[in-house]
Amino acid sequence: MDVVRVNVSKPYDVLIGRGILDSVGERLREVSEPCRCAVITDDIVSELYKERVVQSLEASGFSAVSFVFQNGEQSKTLATFGKALEFLAEQKLSRTDLVVALGGGVVGDLAGFVSSVYLRGVRFIQIPTTLLAAVDSSVGGKTAVDLAAGKNLAGAFYQPELVLCDPDTLSTLPAEFIADGMAEVIKYGMIYDKELFSFVAGGANSDMYERIIRRCVEIKAHFVENDERDNGIRQLLNFGHTAGHAIEKCSNMTITHGNAVAIGMAIVAKACAAMGIAEQSLPSELISCLRNNNLPVECEFTAQELAAAALSDKKRRGGSISVVVVRAVGDSFLKPIRCEETADFFKQGMGEESV
Ligand code: NAD
Ligand code: GLY
Repeated sequence: MDVVRVNVSKPYDVLIGRGILDSVGERLREVSEPCRCAVITDDIVSELYKERVVQSLEASGFSAVSFVFQNGEQSKTLATFGKALEFLAEQKLSRTDLVVALGGGVVGDLAGFVSSVYLRGVRFIQIPTTLLAAVDSSVGGKTAVDLAAGKNLAGAFYQPELVLCDPDTLSTLPAEFIADGMAEVIKYGMIYDKELFSFVAGGANSDMYERIIRRCVEIKAHFVENDERDNGIRQLLNFGHTAGHAIEKCSNMTITHGNAVAIGMAIVAKACAAMGIAEQSLPSELISCLRNNNLPVECEFTAQELAAAALSDKKRRGGSISVVVVRAVGDSFLKPIRCEETADFFKQGMGEESV
């Protein structure tokens, strides 16, 4: 089993180990006295893994109730958030009890936000079951729901007590969601770790997941430890996300987060090369890596549409937005772009003429 310590204001461990799902109770006993647990999960993950988690919790003296909602981004709303809060209140979960977020990034983000608000904050643990959640969303304490105006617009920074990641759960994850997670893995390679990028450039397979998860969690811990509240260096983790969130929004959330980030990264890499920030070979290196990992690179929206969506995003700061740009694989920095230049920036990465 691998252990990665996340040294933030409230430090915690990320435990990564095959089969760890059956020892959730034992692991939790190392950080908590027996108490009541509310397992928050979605319908698909509930069918696959909830019983194993509940059995393990009960075997270690915890009791468990569960709140199950319909899978998918369309559930990451204030409505589901409200229902989950009402459920915890009906169950009389107390301040000394615990929430268990079992699932992908949608479950983790929503359950984390619920935990941050219920009784002004109850403890929670993350059990990621998608590659995206394992390498990214379960670590670092960003929790949120979407609003009509955009993704993740209501949320909180709220760190878990523990993250338990069982790579065996990825054996049931459909290939399209593996690809979504690979977009975030490739992101880490692009912004910080050339070796990781090279490791996955030809396409990743299941034998590689444990090593990939450990390395990504180490990188995420590094950024979060140095900038827990996302005011500086942590923003590098948003490579491809400004365009990506805009693509998700323009598609009415029918394009998944990972797919949108992949397209967003390709746009930014091309813009960086066109503007002389990056080596000319950067876009083709990235695009080939994305394709080898079954990710899309073409954008069906115009630069103008993306800019309009991006500028309603929360990452806007006054008259500018910060875009993560890359000089070469593993070497990135933040570049402020004036709001009125956003469409032009995207155009450079989409082969459209500047206006
Ligand atoms: P998801 O949670 O919707 O999971 C994808 C699908 O896989 C769902 O249908 C789910 O039911 C199913 N699933 C989950 N685990 C499974 C398993 N082991 N076997 C079979 N099916 C399984 O999506 P996601 O890609 O995990 O997460 C995307 C979300 O994460 C977005 O809302 C995004 O904004 C958020 N996110 C958050 C952060 C953060 O730092 N908090 C970072 C990146 C992304
Ligand atoms: N996923 C980006 C972050 O956690 O900051």
